[in-house]
Amino acid sequence: MSFADAPLDPQSAARLAERGLELRLVDTSDQAAFDAWIQADHRGFYGGAVEPERLAETRERTAYRRTTGVFDASAADPATPIATAQSWPTRLTVPGDDASVGLWAISSVTVAPTHRRRGVARAMLEAELRTAAALGVPVAGLTVSEATIYGRYGFGPAGFVDEVEIETDRMRWAGRETPGRLHFVTPEQLRDDARAIAEAARGQQPGELLYDDALLDGAIGLTGTPGARQKRRLVRYDDAAGTSRGFVLYEVEGGDDDFTKHTVQVHYLLGADDEATAALWRFLVELDLVTRVRAPMRPVDEPLAWMLGDLRAIRRRRADHLWLRILDVPAALEARRYAAAASIVLDVDDPYGFAAGRFLLEVGQDGAGRVRRTEGEAPTDAASVALAINELSSVYLGGVAPTELARAGRIAEQTPGAAGVLEAAFRSERAPWLSMEF
Ligand SMILES: CC(C)(COP(=O)(O)OP(=O)(O)OC[C@H]1O[C@@H](n2cnc3c(N)ncnc32)[C@H](O)[C@@H]1OP(=O)(O)O)[C@@H](O)C(=O)NCCC(=O)NCCS
Repeated sequence: MSFADAPLDPQSAARLAERGLELRLVDTSDQAAFDAWIQADHRGFYGGAVEPERLAETRERTAYRRTTGVFDASAADPATPIATAQSWPTRLTVPGDDASVGLWAISSVTVAPTHRRRGVARAMLEAELRTAAALGVPVAGLTVSEATIYGRYGFGPAGFVDEVEIETDRMRWAGRETPGRLHFVTPEQLRDDARAIAEAARGQQPGELLYDDALLDGAIGLTGTPGARQKRRLVRYDDAAGTSRGFVLYEVEGGDDDFTKHTVQVHYLLGADDEATAALWRFLVELDLVTRVRAPMRPVDEPLAWMLGDLRAIRRRRADHLWLRILDVPAALEARRYAAAASIVLDVDDPYGFAAGRFLLEVGQDGAGRVRRTEGEAPTDAASVALAINELSSVYLGGVAPTELARAGRIAEQTPGAAGVLEAAFRSERAPWLSMEF
């Protein structure tokens, strides 16, 4: 049995059955069934009908994922699911050298507007969490369309991103030297290099995932509608030794009224190191006939302002991006390294029960953490906090400050200054960043 055909969660299946609905694993080798599911997924996000070529590229790249639908036999088209969800196990980078944790990635959560607010999404989400827990995956994660949906299932925002806008007229490059070379490439040419670059980047960046072909091919513009692909340009950066270290997918817009004032819209920019990232930014901000560069989903600690001679040339708008839900507290907390030795008691509240209980986290001088469940008294020198699983999931990667949550009343300090102890230990040198949405 693989994750894809692990049994359906009986509790959610029974709850939906009471309402005349059927929770079903979609056989992704059955083209008609999978196509109907893909169409339902697109319709759920208000997309139009998916063209045959796009269906084929989606089928090819996501057939391996666990694909669930909810079906209504009384609907006009009973073969098309009224709700969709897809999930797969992957790796999430956590603080520490080459440290990662197993992640249950959840995507394509939709409920048809004809069937909304009857508990269908809740049944599917609960099924996803119970399935992941049964398979021993310690953390679930997703990116969200709205920040109000997933808290009720125990998720918390753990990684943030900035939408960045740069006015390029007054700036001059003030960043590092970039001695390599830039090349225009096609998505086909970049495919193998993109995988190597993403792998190198992932190793150093908490919050990044091991991406599958569906996500990577989307990021380099190999897939997508012909209209979108036709406008996009792809540039690769090779370092002085000739090794490919980064790439950017972008398009140039505007310029209709004034040809000297175009806007560059970045779709995806990834460097395996600071040099490659800087070189790609430099390429973008120094483009002739361009006065503005926009980029979505950038790291919140990207040192962009320091690379542009004008500190006020850049505007940032922050948003929550990666949401996590710890299912197994010891496995999750022991997977990462910590920034300071500490002894911390965590009283975790989890209405679903997966992560509820009192845990003692002991971090040694080497930054490794040991976690055990403890019923009784904690060591007298331990810092102690009470928090919900949402907040523990939020602070997990070091991207949310426990003292901030304590001030907001979302973490209760059971010993004075405990949130500060948590913060010193959980801090991450690099802010967690997930470079894609899924
Ligand atoms: C979001 C969506 C999946 C919810 O599906 P649904 O079947 O209507 O949700 P449920 O009936 O199971 O609702 C469960 C709970 O979530 C709440 N809820 C549902 N959608 C919500 C939303 N958009 N914002 C805030 N709360 C929401 C419900 O009020 C209910 O609250 P409760 O805790 O009081 O029970 C559905 O509206 C949808 O497909 N939206 C468009 C696509 C989308 O945004 N998907 C999410 C991708 S990340």
